Amino acid sequence: MRRAVVPVAVVTGVLILAGCGSEDAADVSVSGAYMPQPVSDSMAAGYLTVTNKGGTKDELTSVTSDVGEVTAHETVGGSMQQVEDLAVPAHGQLVFKSGGNHLMFDKLKRKPKQGETVTVKLRFAESGTVTVRMPVKPATYTPKTGH
Ligand code: CU
Repeated sequence: MRRAVVPVAVVTGVLILAGCGSEDAADVSVSGAYMPQPVSDSMAAGYLTVTNKGGTKDELTSVTSDVGEVTAHETVGGSMQQVEDLAVPAHGQLVFKSGGNHLMFDKLKRKPKQGETVTVKLRFAESGTVTVRMPVKPATYTPKTGH
């Protein structure tokens, strides 16, 4: 009799966990993406905001693009360094902006020009891949912050 009871308990537990998971799962979206038209022939920077509406933290694990290689950089004390993964907190944001975290495009296959669009694929540990169409803005463009 005890053997018959155990599997039922296990199945019930799995169902409860699955229910919680769907409500609390990471739910990321990307907004405000742009690339200032690069001055260099080989390198460019990109900025965007990742918003996580879910109750579980997520992590940006890799970035790829159609124009060249991409890495995530953070700015520490005025110099920048590559980072492997960046956390997107539950109910929070991961912000890439001028002077802070940024996407670094390297080994460009073509030089993106104002008015064009660059495709960027962001891979997240929980939410999978998000494809972003990143418009190329004037080199001196700064986004309105809304303040
Ligand atoms: Cu950089």
